[in-house]
Amino acid sequence: MSVRKAIIPVAGYGTRFLPATRSIPKMMIPVLDRPAIHFAVDEATRAGIEHVVFVTSRGQEAVSRYFDRIPDLEQALKRKGDERALEQMLEISDMVETSTVVQEHPLGLGHAVLIAREAVGNEPFAVFLPDDLIWSDSPTISAMIELFSRYGSSVVAVNEVPEEMVSSKGVIAPVAIDERVSRIEAMVEKPAREDAPSRLAIIGRYVLTPDVFDALERVQPGALGEIQLTDAIAMLLPTNKAYAYEFPGTYFDLGTPLGLLKASIHVALQSEDISEELREWISEVL
Ligand code: G1P
Repeated sequence: MSVRKAIIPVAGYGTRFLPATRSIPKMMIPVLDRPAIHFAVDEATRAGIEHVVFVTSRGQEAVSRYFDRIPDLEQALKRKGDERALEQMLEISDMVETSTVVQEHPLGLGHAVLIAREAVGNEPFAVFLPDDLIWSDSPTISAMIELFSRYGSSVVAVNEVPEEMVSSKGVIAPVAIDERVSRIEAMVEKPAREDAPSRLAIIGRYVLTPDVFDALERVQPGALGEIQLTDAIAMLLPTNKAYAYEFPGTYFDLGTPLGLLKASIHVALQSEDISEELREWISEVL
């Protein structure tokens, strides 16, 4: 079974990144030199996804514009003879086909996914939460698409988190079935610490069957008074199995300035051009 489309919700005020987000969308703040959105779309395209649906709020046009051609810039780079930069620019605009759906009111992640229904149609789809960056050799979503093909059911990414984090995440009750793979027995959005069924928290990668859209139509507002994607997947569990994938690799939460800084440093340390100087500087200032 192939998964051709992905929904990437990018709406929201980005309040934790004020004042920068007064005038630029949160997803355009760079991790080292690429905006955060670049990483999610790159992971999607490396996994063979052909079309990305951005769910945005007003004023976030820069996010999808990032993936457009910029003829003036291309001409300028050509005149300068900067082939390398030109190639990089063309790679970005050739990455993927995009479309945009506007979420007028912040009614929750589940609502954001639901309003992309028409753009996705009646086929399996992926969801990426671009605040969750997973740095690994092969795209996490590729492994999840493989599991989806094997089991024919929805798959969510999970990660073991410290106890104090469970109440800000979706958490699953797992039944282990294979290395890194569990069947989900129950799942709950933002549980109180004492009610969390485990410390396996959902991280923003999903491969879902289209009947999740039907469940989203029916589900009532849950945690934070919002329509929750977790609740829709949970609603289907009695009839449709769902699986969790404990991904390898390093996870960064780009939703906070510190998480974004850590991701930037991590990416910089992998970069041939700057890692040595960065290492020297860090050891000097520590
Ligand atoms: C969302 C999901 C939650 C998941 C989290 C991952 O929560 O609702 O289940 O664990 O993303 O980052 P949010 O961070 O939008 O509150």
